[in-house]
Amino acid sequence: MTMTTASTQQTTNTAGLYYIKTHGCQMNEEDSNKMGNLLQEQCQMSPCTSVQDADLIILNTCSIREKAQEKVFSELGRWRKEIKCKDDVVIAVAGCVASQEADEIFKRAPFVKIVIGPQTIHRLGDLYRQCKSSKKRQIDVSFPAIEKFDHLPQNTESAVSSFLTIMEGCNKFCSYCIVPYTRGEEISRDFKNVIEEAKHLARTGAREIVLLGQNVNDYYGKIDETIDGNLALLIQTISQIPGIERIRFTTSHPQAFDDTLIDAYDARNTKLCNHLHLPVQSGSNRILKNMKRDYTIEKYLEIIDQLRCKRPGLPISTDIIVGFPGETEDDFQQTMALVDRVKFDSSFSFIYSPRPGTPASELVDEVPLEEKKSRLARLQTRLKYYADQIALSMVGQTVTVLVEGMSKKSNRQLSGRTENNRIVNFPGDASFLGQIVHVTITEKCQNSLRGRLVSGADQAQANHSTDRQSLAAAT
Ligand code: 5AD
Ligand code: SF4
Repeated sequence: MTMTTASTQQTTNTAGLYYIKTHGCQMNEEDSNKMGNLLQEQCQMSPCTSVQDADLIILNTCSIREKAQEKVFSELGRWRKEIKCKDDVVIAVAGCVASQEADEIFKRAPFVKIVIGPQTIHRLGDLYRQCKSSKKRQIDVSFPAIEKFDHLPQNTESAVSSFLTIMEGCNKFCSYCIVPYTRGEEISRDFKNVIEEAKHLARTGAREIVLLGQNVNDYYGKIDETIDGNLALLIQTISQIPGIERIRFTTSHPQAFDDTLIDAYDARNTKLCNHLHLPVQSGSNRILKNMKRDYTIEKYLEIIDQLRCKRPGLPISTDIIVGFPGETEDDFQQTMALVDRVKFDSSFSFIYSPRPGTPASELVDEVPLEEKKSRLARLQTRLKYYADQIALSMVGQTVTVLVEGMSKKSNRQLSGRTENNRIVNFPGDASFLGQIVHVTITEKCQNSLRGRLVSGADQAQANHSTDRQSLAAAT
C-alpha cells in the first residue's frame, strides 16, 4: 500500500518552516500528521510546500520492499542539490528505514542531521532543538513502550476522514515481512485513551474514523486493571459518539478474525462501513505455510462466507504477493482461483521483495524475475477485471457518499467516498462538505466514479441501505 504524500497546508507560525514527505502506509501518513502537529505546537513552526523554503525537511520512510528503501537515498540526494547545500537546513529521516538503517543513512547521506524511528516521533521537537544548538547529529530509534501517544499534541482541526492509531508494532513475524523489526512489538493503546481521541476527532470535524494498526483485530487495550477490550467493542463504543457517521479499520489479519468481529458486521451496526480490507497474500496453502501466515485458504473463505451472510456481497479488498520463493505455476493458479472466488473489490499486489534479516530472505528463490513479472501482470489483469465489474455495476445506482472535499480538478465539483472506498466526483458546493449525501452514479472513470446529487427531498432519506443492496447484487 505504498503511497507518497507531501505536506501542503500553509499556516502562520513564525519560528521556521518544515516540509514533510511521506512514503508508505497509512500508519506513516498518520505519524507524519502527528509530527506536523508537534512541530507547530512545540516549535511554533509552520508547514511549507517546497524543500527550498524549509528549515527542517523530514522524509518519513518505508522499508517494506527494496524499491521503497532505495527511493530514500535518491530522494535525499535530490534534496541536497535542491537546497543548494545550505548548512543551516536540517534534514531528518524518520520511519521504518530510519529504524533499521541509521548507520547506513549517516554513511550514504552524511548531510542528514536527524534519524528518528517510528516509536519516538514525540521526541522530534527536542531532537531538532538539540541539533540546532549543538550542531551535532541526533538519533533516536529506540522502542519505548507506547509512550508516544501520551506525548503527542492533538490537532485543533480534523479531516472529515481521520486516522486513529489504536496499536503499534506486530508480533506475527510473517516470514517475508520487515515490519516486526522496524516497528517493534505489538502494543495496544488503552481503551479510554482511544475513545477520548475519537471524541476529540469528532469535536474537531471528523465524520469518519479509520482505526489503524498493523493487526487491528489483535487489539486488546485495557478497559481497566482487569478487563481487556477488543476491536469489536471499540467499534461499538465509537459508533455511539455523536458526529461519527462511519468507522473503518485496517489492517486486519485472517488468523485473528474472531466471532466478535464477524458479529460487528451485524446489519444493525450501520456505522461500520460496508467494506473490509483483509490481506490474503496467496491462494496456496503451501505458500501461506511458508509465509508463516497461520491460516489456510479454507479458513479465509469461511470468514468471508460468514461475513457475507451478515452483509450480502460485502466488498472485500486484499493484498497479494506473487513470486514468493518456491511458488510454482500451480500455486499461482490457486491465487487466481481465489480471486475468481472472492471477486475482490480492490487490491494491492506486489512481487516478493527479499528483506534483509527476515527468514524468507534465506530461502532459495528459484523463480526467475521475468516469471514473477508475468505472474504479477496476469494477476493484476484479473484483479482489475473484477474491480471494473463492480464499478460498472454501481453505474445507475444511488449510493451514500461522505463528502471529503472539493475535487482536485474543479472547485465546482465535490469529492467523496462510497462505503466501499470508491472515490466519487459530482457537481455541488462547499455547503455539503462533511455530510453523507445520496449520489446517483452516472459514469465509471479510470480510477474513480462520476455522479450527481439526488434532489433535496430524497436526500433526507439518505441511509446506508441502498448501496449495500446494489453491491450485494454485484458479487
Ligand atoms: N515483499 C513484497 N510485498 C510485501 N509486503 C510485505 N512485505 C513484503 C515483501 N517483503 C506486502 C504485503 C503486505 C503489504 C502491506 O505489503 O502484501 O500486506
Ligand atoms: Fe508484516 Fe505479517 Fe505483521 Fe502484516 S502481520 S505487518 S505482513 S509481519
